[in-house]
Amino acid sequence: MKIIAGNWKMNGTRELLNEMIVALENIDTENKVILCVPYTMLAASSARVAIGAQDVSAHDHGAYTGQVSANMVAATGATYTIVGHSERRQYNGDTNDTVRQKAAAAVAAGLTPIICVGETMDEKNAGKTMEIIQSGVRESVPQDTKNIIIAYEPRWAIGAGITPTDDEIASAHQLIADTLSDMGLGGTPILYGASVRASNAAQIMSIPHVDGVLVGGASLKVDDFIPIITSVK
Ligand code: PGA
Repeated sequence: MKIIAGNWKMNGTRELLNEMIVALENIDTENKVILCVPYTMLAASSARVAIGAQDVSAHDHGAYTGQVSANMVAATGATYTIVGHSERRQYNGDTNDTVRQKAAAAVAAGLTPIICVGETMDEKNAGKTMEIIQSGVRESVPQDTKNIIIAYEPRWAIGAGITPTDDEIASAHQLIADTLSDMGLGGTPILYGASVRASNAAQIMSIPHVDGVLVGGASLKVDDFIPIITSVK
């Protein structure tokens, strides 16, 4: 069983979400499917597809105009949230510290956070990939929280149509698995994200410690997303 999560980012419509849910309810798969959609669509419900947000506030409530708390997300019936996505880190100043607080708020509200870590192209070129991944996991994951998912997303490959080599993905996932194990969180699912398509999904999910994928662009069309989900058992 693999976990296939879609990240719609600031895209999609309610009509598309309904269409996607109907299509997903009719596929024959054991895989866990999660769709992380804009806040305005969180109230969607489906027996087959879990719904998630793409970010939550680190705060419970208060004077934080424009923010949405984890409790508010949970009250819609959603059960997951992404935190620390590279676009939040890039455009909204999220750091490992704020990501950890957001993940803790999510867990406290009963949501499963999908905590993203990954290196930029500059960090990769400077030979810092492993260091960034390891500090990302150590600093972004709250203490004593079992109910989490990690997503390794090399930031330079997101939306770029290119992916790391299988060996690079394998080393990154091995390091994340070892780091989580050191933290007492062995067995935490680890997803790969960035330029996953139907054409590479099965191969990527055959790499050790790749427990599923986080899919951006290719989760926005039924005909692109379903073949990714059905590419593995
Ligand atoms: P992509 O995005 O699949 O379009 O590369 C992945 C993500 O940002 O989660």
